[in-house]
Amino acid sequence: MKILITGGAGFIGSNLAEYYLRRGDRVRILDNLSRHGTPANLEYIQGLGGDFEFIRGDIRNRETCMTAVSGVDTIFHLGAQVAVTTSVVDPVHDFEVNLVGTVNILEAARRNHPKPMIVYTSTNKVYGKMDHIEIGLNNNRWEYANLPTGNPETTPLDFYSPYGCSKGGADQYVHDYCRIYGLDSCVFRMSCIYGPRQMGCEDQGWVAFFLIQAEMGRSVTIYGDGKQIRDVLYVEDLVRAFDAAYRNRSTTRGNVYNIGGGPERTVSLLEFIDYIHNDLSLPLPFSFDAWRPGDQKVYVSDIRRAGRDFNWKPEYTPQRGFRDLHAWIHAHRHLFV
Ligand SMILES: NC(=O)c1ccc[n+]([C@@H]2O[C@H](COP(=O)([O-])OP(=O)(O)OC[C@H]3O[C@@H](n4cnc5c(N)ncnc54)[C@H](O)[C@@H]3O)[C@@H](O)[C@H]2O)c1
Repeated sequence: MKILITGGAGFIGSNLAEYYLRRGDRVRILDNLSRHGTPANLEYIQGLGGDFEFIRGDIRNRETCMTAVSGVDTIFHLGAQVAVTTSVVDPVHDFEVNLVGTVNILEAARRNHPKPMIVYTSTNKVYGKMDHIEIGLNNNRWEYANLPTGNPETTPLDFYSPYGCSKGGADQYVHDYCRIYGLDSCVFRMSCIYGPRQMGCEDQGWVAFFLIQAEMGRSVTIYGDGKQIRDVLYVEDLVRAFDAAYRNRSTTRGNVYNIGGGPERTVSLLEFIDYIHNDLSLPLPFSFDAWRPGDQKVYVSDIRRAGRDFNWKPEYTPQRGFRDLHAWIHAHRHLFV
C-alpha cells in the first residue's frame, strides 16, 4: 500500500503512520506542523525508518494537495483545525482549513489515476447538542433515557458551532464524492479518542489534558457540571478500525460510521478525576465554569454498524488505555513544561 496521511504529524495521524510503517507499507505525510508538539511526533516517526516521506505543506493550497495525493492508493484525511473553541474565535480560518482543505484533497483524489480511497475523520459534533434526545441523571452521570446502544448514524445532522459546520460540511462532501464521482470514500464520525502523542489542551483532547495537568501538578476547569458522559476509544483500537474499513472497502465505500468506545467504555469528567486520584495517586485540583457552546451532556456512539460491516470492536479497557497514556505522558514531561 502507498498511503497519504494528511495531519500525519498529529496525534492520531502519527499513530496511524506508525502502524503502516511497521507493517512495511509506504507512508507519506502532509502536515503544516501547526499543532503544538507535532515536530516531536514527526521526529518519532522518522526514527522508525521504513519507506517514509514528509511534505511540509498546507491543505489549503491546491497544488500542494495535488503533489501529496499523486501516486497514492489510500488517503486518510486527518489534517484539520480541531477545536470548537478556536473555531468560534476564528470561523474563517476554521472554514478554510476544514472545508476548503477537504475539497482540495477530494479534488486531488478525483483527478488522480487510479483514484485512491479516502477515509475522512469527522466528528460526533455533526449531531449537534442533541437536545431532542431524552437524557436523565443516574448515579451522578448523564445518560440517554432510550438509547441503550448509543447514538446511531441515522440521527439527523444538526451542525452546531463553526467547527461542527466545517467538519459536517466536509463529512457530506466526502460522502457525496462517492455518489457523484465514484470515489471510494468512507466517513468516520469519531467521539473521544485518546492515547500516546496526544498533545491535549484545554480546547481539545480532554483525557490527555487532564492527565498532563495532573502529572505536571496543575489544575483544570470543568465546563458544565462534570457529570457529562463521553465514550472513549484508545487510539490503537481506532487504527485497527481504519485499516479494517480500508480492507473491507467494497462494503464500507459510500458509508458513514460512528466510531468510539461505545456504551461499554464511558466515563464522566468527575469519574475520570476520581480515577486519576485513586488509581494514579495524583491530585488534580479543579473548579467549575459555565457550559461551552454546543456541549453535549451525553455522547455515546452506537458502534454496531462498524461491527457488522468490518468486524470491528474496541479491545482496550479505559483502565488499560488511561494507564498507558499516563505512562507515555510521564516519560515525556519535557513536552508539557
Ligand atoms: N482526537 C479526537 O478525539 C477526535 C475526535 C473527532 C474527530 N477528530 C478528527 O481527527 C483528526 C485528527 O485529530 P487529532 O486529534 O489527531 O488532532 P491533531 O491536532 O493532533 O492533528 C491534526 C493535524 O493536522 C495538522 N494541520 C492543521 N492544519 C493544517 C493545515 N492547514 N494543513 C496541513 N496540516 C494541518 C496539524 O499540524 C496536526 O498535525 C482531525 O480531523 C479531527 O477533527 C479527532
